[in-house]
Amino acid sequence: MDPEGIDGVRMTWNIWPRTKIEASKCVVPFAASISPIRHHRDIISLPYAPLCCANCSAALNAYARVDFNAKLWICPICVHRNKFPLHYHQISETNLPQELYAQYTTIEYTLPDQPGAAPAAADHHSAFVFVLDTCMIEEEFDFAKSAIKQAIGLFPDNALVGFVSFGTQAHVHELGFSDLAKAYVFRGDAEVSKEQVLEQLGLAASGRRGPIGGYGFSNAALNRFLLPASECEYTLDSLLEELQTDQWPVKAGCRPLRCTGVALSVAVGLLGACSPGTGARIIALVGGPCSEGPGTIVSKDLSEPLRSHKDLDKGAAPFYEKAEKFYDGLANQLVDQGHVLDIFASALDQVGVAEMKATVERTGGLVVLSESYGHSVFKDSFKRVFEDGEQSLGLCSNGILKINCSKDIKVQGIIGPCASSQKKGPSVGDTVIGEGNTTEWKMCGLDKSTCLTVFFDISSSDQSSNPSGDNLLYLQFLTSYQNPQGKKLLSVTTVCRQWADTDISTEELVQGFDQETAAVVMARLASLRMETEVEFDATRWLDRNLIRICSKFGDYRKDEPNSFTLNPNFSLFPQFIFNLRRSQFVQVFNNSPDETAYNRMLLNRENISNAAVMIQPSLTTYSFNSTPQPALLDAASIAADRILLLDSYFSIVIFHGSTIAQWRSLGYQNQPEHQAFVQLLQAPQDDAQMIVHGRFPMPRLVVCDQHGSQARFLLAKLNPSASYNESETMNDVIFTDDVNLQVFYKHLQKLAVQS
Ligand SMILES: *[C@@H]1O[C@H](CO)[C@@H](O)[C@H](O)[C@H]1NC(C)=O
Ligand SMILES: *[C@@H]1O[C@H](CO)[C@@H](O)[C@H](O)[C@H]1NC(C)=O
Ligand SMILES: *[C@@H]1O[C@H](CO)[C@@H](O)[C@H](O)[C@H]1NC(C)=O
Ligand SMILES: *[C@@H]1O[C@H](CO)[C@@H](O)[C@H](O)[C@H]1NC(C)=O
Ligand SMILES: *[C@@H]1O[C@H](CO)[C@@H](O)[C@H](O)[C@H]1NC(C)=O
Ligand SMILES: [Zn+2]
Repeated sequence: MDPEGIDGVRMTWNIWPRTKIEASKCVVPFAASISPIRHHRDIISLPYAPLCCANCSAALNAYARVDFNAKLWICPICVHRNKFPLHYHQISETNLPQELYAQYTTIEYTLPDQPGAAPAAADHHSAFVFVLDTCMIEEEFDFAKSAIKQAIGLFPDNALVGFVSFGTQAHVHELGFSDLAKAYVFRGDAEVSKEQVLEQLGLAASGRRGPIGGYGFSNAALNRFLLPASECEYTLDSLLEELQTDQWPVKAGCRPLRCTGVALSVAVGLLGACSPGTGARIIALVGGPCSEGPGTIVSKDLSEPLRSHKDLDKGAAPFYEKAEKFYDGLANQLVDQGHVLDIFASALDQVGVAEMKATVERTGGLVVLSESYGHSVFKDSFKRVFEDGEQSLGLCSNGILKINCSKDIKVQGIIGPCASSQKKGPSVGDTVIGEGNTTEWKMCGLDKSTCLTVFFDISSSDQSSNPSGDNLLYLQFLTSYQNPQGKKLLSVTTVCRQWADTDISTEELVQGFDQETAAVVMARLASLRMETEVEFDATRWLDRNLIRICSKFGDYRKDEPNSFTLNPNFSLFPQFIFNLRRSQFVQVFNNSPDETAYNRMLLNRENISNAAVMIQPSLTTYSFNSTPQPALLDAASIAADRILLLDSYFSIVIFHGSTIAQWRSLGYQNQPEHQAFVQLLQAPQDDAQMIVHGRFPMPRLVVCDQHGSQARFLLAKLNPSASYNESETMNDVIFTDDVNLQVFYKHLQKLAVQS
């Protein structure tokens, strides 16, 4: 079953109360998770631009009421009556344009090329600038270089490619001459503006020539640094061949001087010379922390460790704020230009993903964190970015999302990979969540799996305001973007939901509650607030809200905990919150700030099913006498004669019970009479591969045995149940001071029914 349907939209609540007061009593915010350009076999493509409402500019859609005689349509969003233009005059009940078919609530429009667009620009509609860290050990550097070589081989011939390397200084390599390797050097210790970059590269226009934004550039000049892949593959190959790790001496007791900030500024500046509308990405391979110049996150002195969550909490991270501010500046510049930053970080230590988070997230960039450029988490993920075909990510560019909604609904903002365009409109909410203050967002980079969470506010204070006379509410999401081939597309999704009857009945709201979406939205909101509010206590906030929601929507007699029950639409929610409290999103102290930032970026951009698995991993058991079964995320699911498959999104664990592990060590799988054992061992492997292949970034695959050291990857995710009592496996009992689910639920019942 596909819970998102053709629209790719899931909402926390599918039936909305009429007033602000009733809405606030619902505890879980009114939010929609949307996948603006999701592929779906039932989405049709129309070769023209949609008709738009003259009043609110919403696109004509399946929910419009049509008056065939008067040749007009009534916009469901603002109830404006729009005359059909002449070329729609053949319209009748039996001759409908496809955008009015009831099943096509999502439609993709192919927009005609803009008149006057230079054909040359369309040829080179995409550009990729590699930014390669050279402060690495030889082995890592070779892995990184060969990954780049492989990627260039996969580019379409007309994609433009540029190359920047950095260590103590940043180098922009000229790719125009194959026989003469030439690079422009930028100091690593001083900030460099876009103007300075262009000036130094000889790309600054002499004022008058510049047609757009004051910056013209001569194509000839830019072509020294950005060349079609087909023309520069050989040059780049030999450049990479000869490129050495950073040769600047590293003082004893010091970190290598790494000017990541300057290198990124230079790449951003270089792309600033591209013609507007070019979908461009900076692909940064970073092997360690920035320790030189702007964007520095750590002292040069090795005796000073990188900032931890504890340091951030205590305000004892002297570089943090300044670095974050610097990278925010880069984010603004990139968003302005419509370009993207992707970070592929590989290091045993942190590289500053936490400081750079906004730059990646606001530009819709990709991020992959791994411990080595030789690891499959990096290698396979990196390859998939550039690959063609089924597995391709299909990176799109220049996205703009616009949202229109029915009267009395306001948009508070969005959590996810986008940037507010700060365009105020009638439906902008007063309170801001995430990227807000607007009804229009830029999505510089997006792909078919990109997901956003939109937060809504119900603004009406009186129950009767209802201009259209029915009890339906509408939201429309319009996303224009450029596909990998450079074609301009517009995806329009119109969703219709219900207002609750004016006479508020809780039962009605309960029917519309989507608990999986609600759990994910709470996780995203908690993560955002942990990042932005110093005193925010996520565990207490989640507990308080869970108790409130159970008090409001549970069935019970006052002060009788045992009478407490939850409607099936709510019954899984407490367990989700229980697991969320224990997850890396809330218990951040077990991770580095980089890991936390990484986890949160993926939580924010994945669809609901994937995000739910991050919060509450799925567990499957494999045994001789049954088909694979979903199992409780509980220590009691461990058994000596079972194999478990745990999917926590970031890692996939195959866990062999002790008997299975023993048989395997004895080599039973090699004996012809034990075919069933061979199959038992293989089944979870096959299922794990299936999951790995559909996912980006590639998850880490852990294969382990009961009592083995790697078993902690499984045990850390399991509920420490009381029922777990098997003396031979006592070592595996999880020693944590947090309560188990059963105790948690008991407390919850007691608190929910309290008068
Ligand atoms: C509909 O969305 C467009 C684009 O964001 C905006 O300009 C317009 O004001 C919106 N209309 C209403 C009624 O919200
Ligand atoms: C929203 O806009 C107002 C001014 O219109 C501004 O004061 C405020 O800082 C903005 N908030 C955010 C989060 O951008
Ligand atoms: C809530 O439960 C009802 C059945 O009681 C079901 O029809 C409905 O789909 C559920 N709602 C959601 C959003 O899961
Ligand atoms: C969520 O995303 C994954 C991978 O991107 C995809 O396989 C899956 O079908 C998506 N789920 C839904 C419900 O769309
Ligand atoms: C385990 O269970 C057995 C019987 O089922 C019981 O006698 C024993 O006390 C239990 N051990 C623990 C540690 O709970
Ligand atoms: Zn309208």
